[in-house]
Amino acid sequence: MNDLSPLVQEARADFEQATAPADLENAKARYLGKTGRITEQLKALGALSPDDKKARGALINAAKQQIEAALNARRDALADAELQTQLKSEALDVTLPGRKRGAGGGLHPISRARERIEAIFGSMGFDVADGPEIETDWYSFTALNNPENHPARSMQDTFYVDIKDAHGAYLNLRPHTSPMQVRYAQAHARRYAGQATMPDIRVIVPGRTYRVDSDATHSPMFHQVEGLWIGENVSFKDLKVMYLEFIQAFFETTELKLRFRPSYFPFTEPSAEIDIMFERGPLEGRWLEVSGSGQVHPNVVRNMGLDPERYVGFAFGSGIDRLAMLRYGISDLRAFFEGDLRFLAQFN
Ligand code: DAH
Repeated sequence: MNDLSPLVQEARADFEQATAPADLENAKARYLGKTGRITEQLKALGALSPDDKKARGALINAAKQQIEAALNARRDALADAELQTQLKSEALDVTLPGRKRGAGGGLHPISRARERIEAIFGSMGFDVADGPEIETDWYSFTALNNPENHPARSMQDTFYVDIKDAHGAYLNLRPHTSPMQVRYAQAHARRYAGQATMPDIRVIVPGRTYRVDSDATHSPMFHQVEGLWIGENVSFKDLKVMYLEFIQAFFETTELKLRFRPSYFPFTEPSAEIDIMFERGPLEGRWLEVSGSGQVHPNVVRNMGLDPERYVGFAFGSGIDRLAMLRYGISDLRAFFEGDLRFLAQFN
């Protein structure tokens, strides 16, 4: 007396029809829900005799299990189908050729120029030092013999930081590497204080500098290299010989002239601009300014903690970016700082 087989068949067909999980759950309710057809059958058991109840109950439970099995099978099938669709839509075509990575990094042309400068001066016995980019008013200006009202101190030329130092003066983004002359020489003087002799100070300081200025040949952030040579027996002649040697090594040519043109800087007396002229090549025959220089002013020597009667110093401050532009034939300084890989990759 298995009159429940058609119901099981019907449920199976119903579940097969469901193509989405929500449809399937609705179909399930029609058989196993509170008013579902199997549930109705179970409710009807109450009217039967105990023997009939037992036999009929077993049949209904068997049918119920078959329906539940069909339901679970359909649930799995729907979940599987959904997964397959998702996999297909997110398919990776592993047969596509891969995209090539960049040819690897390389040094920025400014870093290359800086490394050349360090190597050349290093070979001439100069130390290479580094200094703070956020400076005090004293090191940037006062120690370097700048009068209180010197235009370099103005906000039009120098970036100030909204923090004051112990003396109540605003800190600045160093507008030149010259403050490191004083910092380095002070440390050197302290180290040899009380000794009969002090070895010469020979140092270069390459680094970032900042000024309120922006056009094809000026960038608010730029690079300088400071040079300082102090001793009891140095003269302007040493500066000239040393700088010529440097510039010839940097440009890898001896077909190049140097000239010192009188100038003014508060921290040197006398002061000179250094110009160079190539005797060959695309820049031939033009005087090009590459550096400021001079004999360190006695007031600055004193601020270094040294006796200006005994020690004489020579200094220079050259633009690294300018040297790199000349070396690589670049006319717009901004190209260095725009980060365009098509430009930068040419130097690798
Ligand atoms: N600090 C100067 C500037 O930024 C450059 C300079 C000139 C540095 C003469 C020196 C020097 O050491 O002696 O324009």
